[in-house]
Amino acid sequence: MTRVLVTGGAGFIGSHYVHHALAAHPDWHITVLDKLTYAGNLANLEDVKDHPRYRFLCGDIASRPDVEKATEDGMDCIFNFAAETHVDRSIGQPEGFIRTDIYGAYTLLEVARQRKAKAFVQISTDEVYGSVAQGQSRETDALMPSNPYSASKAAADRLAYSYFATYGLPVYISRASNNFGPRQYPEKVIPLFVTNALVNEPLPLYGDGENVRDWLFVTDHCMALDVMLERGAPGEVYNIGAGNERRNIEITRLILDRLNKPTTLVRPVQDRPGHDRRYALDCSKIRALGWAPRVTFEQGLEQTIAWYTENRSWWLPIKTGEYLEYYRNHYRL
Ligand code: NAD
Ligand code: DAU
Repeated sequence: MTRVLVTGGAGFIGSHYVHHALAAHPDWHITVLDKLTYAGNLANLEDVKDHPRYRFLCGDIASRPDVEKATEDGMDCIFNFAAETHVDRSIGQPEGFIRTDIYGAYTLLEVARQRKAKAFVQISTDEVYGSVAQGQSRETDALMPSNPYSASKAAADRLAYSYFATYGLPVYISRASNNFGPRQYPEKVIPLFVTNALVNEPLPLYGDGENVRDWLFVTDHCMALDVMLERGAPGEVYNIGAGNERRNIEITRLILDRLNKPTTLVRPVQDRPGHDRRYALDCSKIRALGWAPRVTFEQGLEQTIAWYTENRSWWLPIKTGEYLEYYRNHYRL
C-alpha cells in the first residue's frame, strides 16, 4: 500500500490527477486535502467519492495542524497541486498567493520531512521563467517571474529544491505550460471564452490578442507527472509542455467558429499589467524519459468545448455570486 496525499485535489488539474491515479495505481490510497476555496469544487470528485481507496479532507495547506492530521497515519508521497492560481487575482490581491503558494508549500515540506516522505512532488509552472521572446526555456534557465502569482510559485519551486539539497527530501519539481480541459474554472481564458460564447456574452481579449501560450491537455500533464516520479531523479526539475504555441486571438477565433458565434463577440479590453508575451518550453528532458503528449491541441479543444456545452449545470451556478462580483470589477463590462 502506498499512502498518497494530493493537495488541491478538488481543483482542475488535481481532480484530473486523482481520477488518473486511482485508475493507474491500484495500490495507492489517496487522501485529498483541499481548502475548497472559490476554485475548489467537490463536484470535480463526485465520480470517486465512494471509491474505497479515496478520502477527502477539507483543510488548509498553510495550517500545520491540518497537514499533520491529513498525514497522521503516515504518508509516502505528496503531490502539491494546492495553490492560488489566477494571475489577474494575484495582481489585485497578492496576499493569499504568498500565504498559500509559499507558506503552504513550506508547511507541507516541513511535514513531509517530519514524516520521512519517500517523494514530494511540487507542481510548479512555466510562468516562473517569465516572458520568453525567442527560443524555449530550459530547466537550467534563470527564473524571472513577473507577477505575484508566478513569483510565489518560483519561491515554492526553489524552496522545495532546498529541502532536497539541505535535508535530502526526495523532491520532484514539474514546470508545466498552460493546461486546458474539462472542469477548469471559468476565469481562465479557454473556459471563460467558451462559456461566455455559449451565453452570448463578450469575450474580453487582453491587449492586441497576440500573446502566446503553449497549450497542454490536462490528462497529458497527469501522465507526465507519473513518468517524472517513476523515471525521473529527485532534486530535478522537468518542463512539461506539448509544443502547442497559439496566439490568444487564434484560440478566440477557433472557439467562436466551433460554436457558430459571431466575431463581434470579441471585446478588446485593457491589457493585464506585466502581461507576459510568450511562454515556450524545451521539453527534451521529460521526453527523454519516454513521455510524449497523446492529445493534439485540436482534439483537446474539441473535447473541452463539447464538455462545457454538455455540462452547463457545472458552470452556470459558478457564474454568480463572488464570481460575478470579481468579473464585473475586473473587466468593467
Ligand atoms: P485550481 O485553481 O483549479 O485549483 C486549486 C485548488 O487548490 C482548489 O481546489 C483550491 O480549493 C485548492 N486550494 C487553494 N488554496 C488552498 C489551501 N490554502 N489549502 C488547500 N487547498 C487549497 O488550480 P489548477 O489550475 O488545477 O492548478 C493546480 C496546480 O498546478 C497549481 O499549483 C498551479 O500553480 C499549477 N499549474 C497550473 C497550470 C494551469 O494551466 N492551470 C499550469 C502549470 C501549473
Ligand atoms: O503557464 C501556466 C499558467 O497558465 C499557470 O501557472 C496558471 O495557474 C494559469 O492560470 C495560466 O496562466 P495564464 O495567465 O497564462 O492563463 P490565463 O488563462 O489567465 O490567460 C491566458 C492568456 O489569455 C493570457 O495571455 C491572458 C489572456 N487572457 C486571459 C483572460 C483571463 C485574455 O486575453 N482575456 C482574459 O479574460
